[in-house]
Amino acid sequence: MKYTVEKLIPESMIRNRVIELGRQIEKDYSGEDNNLVVLGLLRGSFIFMADLSRQIGVGHSIDFLTVSSYGDGMSSSHKIDIIRDLSEEIQNKHVLIVEDIIDTGITLSQVCDYLMQKRPRSLEICALFNKPSRRVINVEVKYIGLSIPDEFIVGYGLDYAQKHRHLPYVGKVIMAE
Ligand code: IMP
Ligand code: MG
Repeated sequence: MKYTVEKLIPESMIRNRVIELGRQIEKDYSGEDNNLVVLGLLRGSFIFMADLSRQIGVGHSIDFLTVSSYGDGMSSSHKIDIIRDLSEEIQNKHVLIVEDIIDTGITLSQVCDYLMQKRPRSLEICALFNKPSRRVINVEVKYIGLSIPDEFIVGYGLDYAQKHRHLPYVGKVIMAE
């Protein structure tokens, strides 16, 4: 299917918002040096993780979890599988999940259920993008970067069929007629 990518969110806007999120997270976890695990969901969060982690001036470890959700297209499959598990224990740790985007909420809701079994001291979510109009499951996301309309976006880690993750800005996918 033919499509084009049209710029939607410039690099500078993403950068500023990531700095603000980092500041807020740093404030909320101050005094918790080295009790915090910043946990990115791969692959979509890889760029956001790298930028956000550097804005959190509280000692933290990082870990990654790979779950399957969207396959290679634009429609959500409804059950996640753990493709790659955590490297470290999170029991009694403060865990902050870092996700690229929350859409229906199905992925994050299942990821939270899975992680809660590992008995973290606390569990919060930071999602860079949010599509509130698409939500089918209510998930509490403490830190949200930017809410966007119901568009399919790519860039800054997000893909369409594994393409465009490297774009420094975020664009929307426009299908040809
Ligand atoms: P959810 O389970 O419907 O909330 O979907 C979340 C996952 O779907 C995200 O982690 C993304 O990988 C993917 N996703 C949702 N919306 C978009 C989008 O607009 N662009 C790229 N990936 C998306
Ligand atoms: Mg994802």
